[in-house]
Amino acid sequence: MSDVARIGAAIEGWLADAEATAAAGEALGRLVEGGDVIALIGDLGAGKTCFTGGLAVGAGVGAEEVASPTFALVNEYRGGRVVVLHADLYRIEQARELDEIGWDDVIGRADAVVVVEWADKFERRLPRDVLRVELAHGDREAADGRRMTVTAGGERSQRLLDRWRAVSGLASD
Ligand SMILES: Nc1ncnc2c1ncn2[C@@H]1O[C@H](COP(=O)(O)OP(=O)(O)OP(=O)(O)O)[C@@H](O)[C@H]1O
Ligand SMILES: [Mg+2]
Repeated sequence: MSDVARIGAAIEGWLADAEATAAAGEALGRLVEGGDVIALIGDLGAGKTCFTGGLAVGAGVGAEEVASPTFALVNEYRGGRVVVLHADLYRIEQARELDEIGWDDVIGRADAVVVVEWADKFERRLPRDVLRVELAHGDREAADGRRMTVTAGGERSQRLLDRWRAVSGLASD
């Protein structure tokens, strides 16, 4: 974990396959509200988009809507219980480009949950109170599956984390 703001304990879980990643996202998606920000962190192929797909389903958006934001950098999924904004910062190289896409307005949307892939690239352009979901490949080359580590940066995200933990059986560190 990097030394970003963190309150409370980290929770950890093992996601054995892609279905488990999507299910974890879906459980969280049932709990999110407008104004929540979810920071997804993990290497190429760690499962960030897979998790986001599940989250969108949990929020009531059709799974078929979810795709990696490419040209737009931010996709907006409507039709669910809450609007889902899906951002991917992989291709963003400079903070200036965030200004060009109106990043602060995206992150400030009270009616939407904002899910950010590659959030660690521009940690300073996120609010402190985000739910950080870190996905990592298994330690051994042969072992598939992902380790998920979740931390809260403030009280709002800690409440969300606690509710998520209660329904998902994730363990505290
Ligand atoms: N827990 C898991 N165990 C094994 N495979 C998984 C797991 N979760 C997701 N995957 C698989 O990993 C692959 C990459 O997933 P995904 O595209 O979601 O990664 P990503 O983090 O969004 O990648 P990128 O950095 O390119 O955006 C997919 O084939 C997905 O099905
Ligand atoms: Mg992705």
